[in-house]
Amino acid sequence: MSDRPIYVTEPYLPPLEEFIPYLEKIWESKRLTNNGSMHQQFEQALCDYLGVPEVALFNNGTMALLTALQALRITGEVITTPYSFVATGHSLLWNGIKPVFVDIDHKTLNIDPSRIEAAITPKTTAIMPVHCYGNPCDVEAIQHIADNYNLKVIYDAAHTFGVQDSIGSILRHGDLSAISFHATKVFNTFEGGAIICPDLKTKQHVNNLKNFGIVDEVTVVAPGINGKMSEVNAAFGLLQLQHIDRAIARRREIDQVYREQLNDMLGITLLQQAGQKVANYAYFPILVEPEYPLSRDELYQKLKDRNIYARRYFFPLISEFSMYRGISSAQSENLPVATAIAKKVLCLPIYPALCENDISHIVEIIRGN
Ligand SMILES: Cc1ncc(COP(=O)(O)O)c(C=O)c1O
Repeated sequence: MSDRPIYVTEPYLPPLEEFIPYLEKIWESKRLTNNGSMHQQFEQALCDYLGVPEVALFNNGTMALLTALQALRITGEVITTPYSFVATGHSLLWNGIKPVFVDIDHKTLNIDPSRIEAAITPKTTAIMPVHCYGNPCDVEAIQHIADNYNLKVIYDAAHTFGVQDSIGSILRHGDLSAISFHATKVFNTFEGGAIICPDLKTKQHVNNLKNFGIVDEVTVVAPGINGKMSEVNAAFGLLQLQHIDRAIARRREIDQVYREQLNDMLGITLLQQAGQKVANYAYFPILVEPEYPLSRDELYQKLKDRNIYARRYFFPLISEFSMYRGISSAQSENLPVATAIAKKVLCLPIYPALCENDISHIVEIIRGN
């Protein structure tokens, strides 16, 4: 048994002394929030790093999703995936929108585009797919359907920091993409998030909405919300950007070791990448198949007994929680792939500070030693 717990993730934190000069600048400026200098610099640095036109920062990814739906005035029904973190579905319910669940592809675990059309009704206004684990959705097929039916596409891109296809950032797809910088993510600002906007006009609209709808001292144009990122979080993001390439490179090494050592394991299926040119190795999901000597939950427990806290992301499905269960598309007969995968999936620890010994230990337990 490991003498200290190993969690599914551990946030990357740069050396504390590197953060002090940023804090000194904030103290000097006495500007703590509301589009201060750190905020402006971080937005520009993110545009440059990610290669996207406009970034509107938020205090978390959920607020970014909520605001993206407001910005595009989405109502009625939105087609989405049950195989995600609850914030995806909750962002719809909080906006008074009915989620319509569509099953996932058994290889990518992202929404299956071939099932979307059958779920469209006269009330459908948008599609909210998730690039699950940072593996890109079939963005072209989704856009094709959206264009045919005049639907908006808002990507829940919470897992997708730094992921690229052959042309550029995955975050440029759809009408808007919302990303999370939560502590558990590849790139964190403690709490944080952003909406990736295609142009300045859209960003200005989003900026109004995230600041109570205020345009100037005497003008409020919409019933906005407080979604602003503080200067401390933005400053931390600027510092994190200096470390992110090394952090992702280390994740890549860990991913490779797991793959080499678990590839031939009977009853363990490794998820393959979904065709991205640059991956971020955000998660390391395995599927525990019937041929494996233990059930998924038995393996989960065996690891836990040895102080290793793998996580069953995403189990239960969003559609299985009580506030969704009554929706007809939430029934498991409509979602056979997602239902089966949720029973088999286990995400193994992956984070830059995970050392070789820990990886070997985890692999040995899975291999039954
Ligand atoms: C798929 C997905 N969507 C949305 C969120 C919400 O992001 P946040 O925690 O920053 O609000 C998360 C993560 O927490 C997530 O994993």
